[in-house]
Amino acid sequence: MNELNTLERIAELKRRRNAVILAHNYQLPEVQDAADFVGDSLELSRKAAVLEAEVIVFCGVHFMAETAAVLSPSKTVLLPEAAAGCPMADMINARELRAWKERYAGLKVVCYVNTSAEVKAESDICCTSSNAVNVVNSLGVDEALFVPDKNLAAWVARETGKKLIAWDGYCHVHHKFTPGDILAAKALHPDAEVWVHPECPLDVIDLADKVLSTGKMVLEARATSRREVIVGTEKGILYRLGRENPAVKFFPGRDAALCVHMKMTTLAKVLRALETDTTRIVVPPEIADRARGAIQAMLQIP
Ligand code: 13P
Ligand code: SF4
Repeated sequence: MNELNTLERIAELKRRRNAVILAHNYQLPEVQDAADFVGDSLELSRKAAVLEAEVIVFCGVHFMAETAAVLSPSKTVLLPEAAAGCPMADMINARELRAWKERYAGLKVVCYVNTSAEVKAESDICCTSSNAVNVVNSLGVDEALFVPDKNLAAWVARETGKKLIAWDGYCHVHHKFTPGDILAAKALHPDAEVWVHPECPLDVIDLADKVLSTGKMVLEARATSRREVIVGTEKGILYRLGRENPAVKFFPGRDAALCVHMKMTTLAKVLRALETDTTRIVVPPEIADRARGAIQAMLQIP
């Protein structure tokens, strides 16, 4: 089937099934173009919470579809590629977090949205890269546990002045950014502003003009007066930034910054998901109810 036929068939099934397609900013161009809504983790969570559709096709990675399923238990949430996980989210499980909490009894737990539902169920509040500073400030404590991203934790601790005891997790895509990558990109594009994602190490963040979630990069790109920007995050975002802002040149901060899991979803798999309900993401109610508490606590924060 060619792309046009696939898109027509997707549109027909969406109508018939009252379905919407959500896609993360790192998804393949063909998937972003077919989506009803493209966004960062926070924007997609907020969208999943208010959608009236019966079926959500979640083009992203497993924890994102799980978050949608937790927020909308009566809806059918489909992940078109079952193997699309997030290696960082897999760096901590509920058993490990329970043991860690015993060691630091009395401290609140902030979990990054890049965690499984069972880890969220063990946490007090969730956060994304977009709202992590506000979430930690909202706790009203000087010290807290933060799982699993040690890089995000280090940046948020510095921004808030709070002590965050971090799990030893990281995103392999962002953790590989080095100061050398940014300096090399700046040497090639000396007039460019530098934006990096807070999953990058602090010594990379220190070279940036702005530290932004992918959603905030999209907003910043619409507002900027700069003509050149070096972008320190997964390269999939460059497609949307370039398409929406043809007058600005965007350059990758690191050429090899690719998340293979985010690239597993294709249009053909979106169509298959709508045709065959593959793969339906269901979170057991006893876990979903507790995880929902942590996610909804986050959604109250601006
Ligand atoms: P945001 O899109 O929320 O900035 O997150 C990036 C990411 O790595 C998601 O997996
Ligand atoms: Fe996970 Fe990093 Fe891929 Fe995002 S980019 S899904 S954090 S591995």
